[in-house]
Amino acid sequence: MRPILPFALLAATALATPTKRQAEASIHTLFVARGKQYLGTISDQRLLLADRNAAIIARNFGQLTPENSMKWESIAPADGVFNFDEPDFLVGFAEDNGIPVRGHTLVWHSQLPEWVANITDAAVLTEVIETHITEVMGRYKGKILAWDVINEMFNENGTFRESVFFNVLGEDFVSLAFKTARAVDPAAKLFINDFNLDSADSPKTQAMASNVKKWIAAGIPIDGIGSQTHLIKGLSAGVPGALAALAATGVEQIAVTELDIAEASPEEYVTVVNACLDIASCVGVTVWGISDKDSWRPGEDPLLFDAGFQPKPAYDAIVEALLQLRGPPQDVRPSPAPEAAEGIQNLMALMDSSPRRPSILKEPEKAATIWWALYRYFPDLEGLLDSGSINKPENAMTLDTSIHGAFDEFYLGLEPSVRWISAPEAVLYH
Ligand SMILES: *[C@@H]1O[C@H](CO)[C@@H](O)[C@H](O)[C@H]1NC(C)=O
Ligand SMILES: *[C@@H]1O[C@H](CO)[C@@H](O)[C@H](O)[C@H]1NC(C)=O
Repeated sequence: MRPILPFALLAATALATPTKRQAEASIHTLFVARGKQYLGTISDQRLLLADRNAAIIARNFGQLTPENSMKWESIAPADGVFNFDEPDFLVGFAEDNGIPVRGHTLVWHSQLPEWVANITDAAVLTEVIETHITEVMGRYKGKILAWDVINEMFNENGTFRESVFFNVLGEDFVSLAFKTARAVDPAAKLFINDFNLDSADSPKTQAMASNVKKWIAAGIPIDGIGSQTHLIKGLSAGVPGALAALAATGVEQIAVTELDIAEASPEEYVTVVNACLDIASCVGVTVWGISDKDSWRPGEDPLLFDAGFQPKPAYDAIVEALLQLRGPPQDVRPSPAPEAAEGIQNLMALMDSSPRRPSILKEPEKAATIWWALYRYFPDLEGLLDSGSINKPENAMTLDTSIHGAFDEFYLGLEPSVRWISAPEAVLYH
């Protein structure tokens, strides 16, 4: 647990020079408040050092995937040669900012160097895969939330793609890759990832679901299915059903791993975010890029920030949707102990006494959800919220948040006398 002190220091700094917000609210924080792990994006060293990317990530997103630097041709371009500088930079940035990383990707037919693609001997390829997974995952052991262990192994018609991996090893490469990965970093969630899983009844979605079910039953350690979700206009309609079909395999987690939507329709972005929200096992959404300036789909403007790094209507629509509280998921609603309920009332009364209290707290439903979300962040909240200790600033010192960078405006909008106590929900407000 990090003490709250950095809040106070940050707030004092912000008081002197109010920080220019990247976007009004953090879609990540709002998503987490609804019970999800993250709403993230991608980057790599060049973009982290360019424009406003790093600031936007720190403000508005809460998970990072390397766009290219961990792909095989980048990280191991020749036999025995590893380029760790760029992925080290990204992982270091993420660590410094308390942002979890999805590793991407270990076994993929594309962006694969010729020295691997040319292998024809099964024993050689087996050893090469084992070495690659061991070296790359080992380097970042304990620092990666989830790995895309296998990427894009299905054809559109549901058959296995003819990659060097399938051609030389057959279906066994799946077991080899996942078992090796589990042994290297047992804490990382292991995903199989693919694109065009955007309709429940497409042969590809069906093949992914039935094979994952079969592989898990056979003891292959697959923890998650990633649906890339690169969409063209109009395709979002199939996403809720497709994610439900993937979740129905019983796999522990699913995730939207590479979201972008041509023309970035606000309604379509909201459809995808809500689809993840509505499925208990969907842990998060990763958007494939920050600004349209740097998207891999030039001219399609598929992202949440425009080429001038301003949040687009789709960004605001996600914020709006996440604030339209339909009630938090049942599993995040603790029943408050009587003393905690009393403490909450005291805290609310304090907030009430601030003439500049934020309007969100005037709406009982939203306020209630903020409290439930507070419980998620601060498991020891009940202990702190007994009526005797609630007014003591030193108790706030034990409150922790990993997202303390995003509350200054809210905080500054409050009366100085209640500022110390308002830090946690200020964080949640963003
Ligand atoms: C891979 O195979 C191609 C075609 O046979 C050949 O031209 C190329 O030099 C090979 N590359 C490596 C790195 O072995
Ligand atoms: C499935 O698609 C692949 C790739 O396009 C193709 O090579 C294969 O012949 C197709 N199989 C069937 C049974 O249609």
